[in-house]
Amino acid sequence: MCGIVGYVGRRNSLPILIDGLKRLEYRGYDSAGIAFQNGSGIEVYKTKGKIRDLQKILPHPAPDAMVGLGHTRWATHGVPSSRNAHPHGTNGIVVVHNGIIENYRNLRSHLIEEGFEFYSDTDTEVIPQMISRYLRRNLSMLDAIRETVAQLRGTFAIGIMSEALPNTLFSIRRGSPLVIGIGDGEYFFASDVSALLPYTRKFIFMEDGQICTIGRDGIELRYLDSPEPTPVETQAVEIDWTPSMAEKEGYDHFMLKEIHEQPRAMMDTIREWTDDPEKILDELGLSVKRTIGLNRLQVVACGTSYHAALVGKYMIEDIARISVDVEIASEYRYKRPIIEHDTLFISITQSGETADTLAAQREARKRGAWTLTICNVVGSTSSREADSVLYTRAGPEIGVASTKAFTCQIGALCLLAIALGIRMGRLTPGEANTLRSQLLKVPAFMEKTIRTNSAIEELARTLIYAKAFLYLGRGINYPIALEGALKLKEISYIPAEGYPAGEMKHGPIALIEEGLPVVVIAPVDNLFEKTLSNIEEVKARGGRVIAVTDEPELLRGKVDDVITVPSAHFSLSPIINVIPLQLLAYHVGILRGCDVDQPRNLAKSVTVE
Ligand code: AGP
Repeated sequence: MCGIVGYVGRRNSLPILIDGLKRLEYRGYDSAGIAFQNGSGIEVYKTKGKIRDLQKILPHPAPDAMVGLGHTRWATHGVPSSRNAHPHGTNGIVVVHNGIIENYRNLRSHLIEEGFEFYSDTDTEVIPQMISRYLRRNLSMLDAIRETVAQLRGTFAIGIMSEALPNTLFSIRRGSPLVIGIGDGEYFFASDVSALLPYTRKFIFMEDGQICTIGRDGIELRYLDSPEPTPVETQAVEIDWTPSMAEKEGYDHFMLKEIHEQPRAMMDTIREWTDDPEKILDELGLSVKRTIGLNRLQVVACGTSYHAALVGKYMIEDIARISVDVEIASEYRYKRPIIEHDTLFISITQSGETADTLAAQREARKRGAWTLTICNVVGSTSSREADSVLYTRAGPEIGVASTKAFTCQIGALCLLAIALGIRMGRLTPGEANTLRSQLLKVPAFMEKTIRTNSAIEELARTLIYAKAFLYLGRGINYPIALEGALKLKEISYIPAEGYPAGEMKHGPIALIEEGLPVVVIAPVDNLFEKTLSNIEEVKARGGRVIAVTDEPELLRGKVDDVITVPSAHFSLSPIINVIPLQLLAYHVGILRGCDVDQPRNLAKSVTVE
């Protein structure tokens, strides 16, 4: 929900902190701030607005400050303002925080009773106040932090700086992502690796309960409840992402770049498995013993990842003939889920940090499930806590609206469906080969579909004043109707609803009025005739039908607009059909003057409930 970054090293920290915050801005962007050691104390600069607004208030030229930390905020407690912006501090202690301190009201009232004064409405401010209280009792900095953290309930990734220790930063992790960057004579902390890629590829993904002491000569990592440090080398990993992968590279927006990256991302995701899909099960630890009695999958996710899970349900049930239950994570985690011996639990999460999905995964594990996560971020919480990980290889996804991660999730689910189908004896070798060869054609089909971009931009110009949209799809493309509606509403703020086309007559048909845009996903499959009937129902009531199809001639004269896509195997058609809907949302959003990479009220990774 927020982004934090810190630096200790031999260079001026301000440009590095600003650059890092800009790379984290997709995590939250309603206010921002920076603090640094200036040789005789700590200077703090913070403001409502974006990083560019923060840059306007920083001192020029930038003072030579080699230790500093920064924060970009998505408000949870206290309105976006300079007063509530981070860093927060008192008595020479300065803190940046990502997460929620759930018991802050109780802590705050006790501190006020002891005479402490507060200036902000945030939960975060209790942290420097408590550290300061323990320092006054002559505890060491480490013990003061330890005592403070022991009283905090909730989730947090915290960065701390002290005037008394001008060459040191501290970072603490519980429930919110936090990485340590190990550079050449310089050290960093950040909410995720994308902030630090220009400076290092060597990272430590901190574990819950760990504190890292970051100094000029190196770092010390330990669990707060452990007397001994944790050997650093055991946790350090090299990330093979390049800085340019986290930059726009000539595109106007990350969202457009990531839509265009989908063919490569898909190929990177499926390449290593397509020659022998069943190999994937062995790599995942899904031994023959573990899969023989398998009768049910439980797939849990949020948002766009939930829509991928729904596509996966159709795929796996059709290909592997295994029953699949798909649940929204925020519902699953509170419903006392039923986990039986024959059930495999799968979470799907691009970031690997979504609080609801993590909680659902932990709940399933607690009830004895073996857990697999389909995730896009190496070292993320979900990937470290699950029993096994099937990585999508989409690269860093910066745009808040998920696009390339979504199509790669579907690619990964297709591989799983084929592998399980072979393992369970539900696919003949010939059928498996057909699916494999169809899957290998998908990146080229995606490339071809992306070329509809200009036509879709023209179409978008005629739609930007619509009051609402309806998206309809059937079968495996019903979840694509949901995804198309989500893309449009989260990017352009136009109300949009996705529905199974067959459900139209049970209510949504009342919405149809003159000119209402109705996007219909209409591949020529076994449901095409039924979909055609729905199109006629819409047209008969004056609706404007925008059809996505691989056979435009069959719809000539029956619809208002046609977006033609390549014909793909019906199990894979969702990957193709979603691309025009992504582009439509993007262009409508741009034409309406929306910030498509950082839509209002949203954040890329929802790391709090
Ligand atoms: C997608 O466009 C949204 N930004 C959002 O629904 C997202 O898919 C959801 O928050 C889940 O995120 P995750 O995949 O990182 O868990």
